[in-house]
Amino acid sequence: MRRKLIAGNWKMNGLRASATQLVQGLLDGVSGGGPSCELLVCPPACLLETVGGLIAGTPIALGGQDCHHGAEAGAHTGDISAAMLKDAGCAYVILGHSERRSDHGEADDLVRAKAGAALAAGLTPIVCVGETAAQRDDGRTLAVVEDQLAGSLPQPAPGQALVIAYEPVWAIGSGRTPSTEEVGEVHGAVRRWLDARLGGEAAAAVRILYGGSMKPGNAAELLAVPDVDGGLIGGASLKAEDFLAIAQACD
Ligand code: PGA
Repeated sequence: MRRKLIAGNWKMNGLRASATQLVQGLLDGVSGGGPSCELLVCPPACLLETVGGLIAGTPIALGGQDCHHGAEAGAHTGDISAAMLKDAGCAYVILGHSERRSDHGEADDLVRAKAGAALAAGLTPIVCVGETAAQRDDGRTLAVVEDQLAGSLPQPAPGQALVIAYEPVWAIGSGRTPSTEEVGEVHGAVRRWLDARLGGEAAAAVRILYGGSMKPGNAAELLAVPDVDGGLIGGASLKAEDFLAIAQACD
């Protein structure tokens, strides 16, 4: 039985004051007994210490938004290693988000190396895949997603210590979401793909999140789709009330 994971991807948002306020709101919300799902927040790197300090010892986990593809330390200006994220208290790291793929030209093989580095440091990678609007219109959604899985997942891929996020690029930040049938089609295909490569037990342990304009109003129906094991939430993770409402929609 996979426990659902609700992960907040803060992207490039937050200053120490606003981040503190947001986390305080989340902690208030879970103080009387939180939702049954696992909660995760992934703030910008410079806020990891602030946020990590506030959530230490609470049921909310900490994650990074990216990491270096190999080295634990060294001459890599601007980069942060997986070991550094681990040292800062992270349990997870988001990798291969479509914004990294498009803004920074990250290709599958780089994402795979990053995922390997994350695993080596004891982090659980959240590997993002998803088609563009043009690829969906061409009927290539499943082929694109399966190609990204084949190229981006660490090898060998573990079961339990791996999360995949299906995020249609056209749904991110747009307010548009695929239908529950379309989400179910992709998540089912991802599970079958994993099954064929990892075998039943490991494949069954991988959590597959949906991401892209998930909000309180659509969370319950998206989270009820078979093989949707949680959500990767951008915009709605910046409001404590909305993030908590999405988490509660797991129950
Ligand atoms: P969104 O972003 O919820 O704002 O669409 C999701 C994501 O990019 O992870």
